[in-house]
Amino acid sequence: MIAETRIALKNAGKYKPEDISTYIDLGGYKNAEKALKSKPEDIINWIDEAKLRGRGGAGFSTGQKKRFTNEAICDKCLQKYVICNADEGEPGTFKDRIIMEMDPHLLIEGMLIAAYAIGATKAYIYIRGEYTQSISKLHIALKQAKEKGFLGKNIFNTGFFLDIEIKLGAGSYLCGEELTLLESLEGKRGYPRIKPPFPAEKGLFGMPTLINNVETFAHIPYIIEHGVEHYRSIGTENTPGTKIFTISGDVKKAGYYETSLGVTLRELIYDLAGGIKQDKKFKAAILGGAAGTFVDHTVLDTPMGYDLLKERGAVLGSGAIMVLADDRSIFEMTYSILDFFKHESCGKCVPCRVGTTQLLLLMNQAKHTKSDRIELLNKLLAEAEYMDQTSLCPLGQSPILPLKSIKQYFESQF
Ligand SMILES: Cc1cc2nc3c(=O)[nH]c(=O)nc-3n(C[C@H](O)[C@H](O)[C@H](O)COP(=O)(O)O)c2cc1C
Ligand code: SF4
Repeated sequence: MIAETRIALKNAGKYKPEDISTYIDLGGYKNAEKALKSKPEDIINWIDEAKLRGRGGAGFSTGQKKRFTNEAICDKCLQKYVICNADEGEPGTFKDRIIMEMDPHLLIEGMLIAAYAIGATKAYIYIRGEYTQSISKLHIALKQAKEKGFLGKNIFNTGFFLDIEIKLGAGSYLCGEELTLLESLEGKRGYPRIKPPFPAEKGLFGMPTLINNVETFAHIPYIIEHGVEHYRSIGTENTPGTKIFTISGDVKKAGYYETSLGVTLRELIYDLAGGIKQDKKFKAAILGGAAGTFVDHTVLDTPMGYDLLKERGAVLGSGAIMVLADDRSIFEMTYSILDFFKHESCGKCVPCRVGTTQLLLLMNQAKHTKSDRIELLNKLLAEAEYMDQTSLCPLGQSPILPLKSIKQYFESQF
């Protein structure tokens, strides 16, 4: 029977988020003090050696990102920025909200350490406007951290300065994508930018910018406190540490669970989430949200890690797991995912604007006629493949992911 291992949620429920003294009593801000009294290069090395990978979905190395931002050289660089991506728009994902509501100071501490490591003096938390509880907790926490001298001028008498500001998003899924987020933060319409340049080189207002997810920042104080070796002893060789999984759908105990990476889907569903509702049979799980993948029972015992899942044609993504019992329709789930993409397409480029509409049109035609579903799936795949190759940003490149996995695991049931 698997149990939870908590890093990002280690303080959840243990202190009052509205009262900074209760966080300090737990040893809060001690890791920031240790970090700010170390060399920035050492911090980057520790995070790199710990093999911390971004928890926002793509799993990119956090240490490397920091190194690129730290080393970014440009003649007119007046400022470097740190941005916390708290947009949390991926369907089925509700982990960042828990950290912000239950442990806002851990996020602030992680951002403070990251800002010092890359030499940024201004940071933003970009958060979806619907997260009213998180926003109010963060406002209080930022005010109290400033009053205590953990933000503002001369932090821990080191001469280091940091200001953190909250900016609200308006609920667009695409604004969670880092380059679109930058446009939105600059006050522009939420349209994506072309990569390169990457944010580390030219980010917010054209300045070097480090962008990480809430959960990623929440791991940093732990690495500073416990060291690289200990961190790497948790999880798998290529993906050390823990991950918060948000399990929803046909399970008895839907919710958030933080475990070591390498846990299996079976352990998450049956040990932690209590098994399938009404003791029905497991049919499928959708891993990583809408821009994720369907898997069947043959993946139940595959350890959850970015690379291990990739070998099975699946993704870990944001950690969302939607579970479907055997009476659910794969066709209906596909319909809702494609409907979501059509709704969220920003319309800037033709392949995605027309493509997402076309995918739904094909599904609607099939709903009302007795068409050959295997032929339909092949048509959808051809369209999504074309979108993948020609769309301007990752949103238009996403529908291929669930469709390919349906072909791999559920062709006969589609
Ligand atoms: C359409 C789309 C939506 C995204 N939404 C989010 C989001 O809500 N939160 C998030 O952290 N990352 C999101 N991402 C990933 C970000 O672009 C980026 O990779 C991430 O913020 C980097 O942080 P990390 O390295 O800590 O994971 C999204 C990506 C895409 C393509
Ligand atoms: S791929 Fe879709 S979301 Fe991205 S720019 Fe094109 S239309 Fe907009």
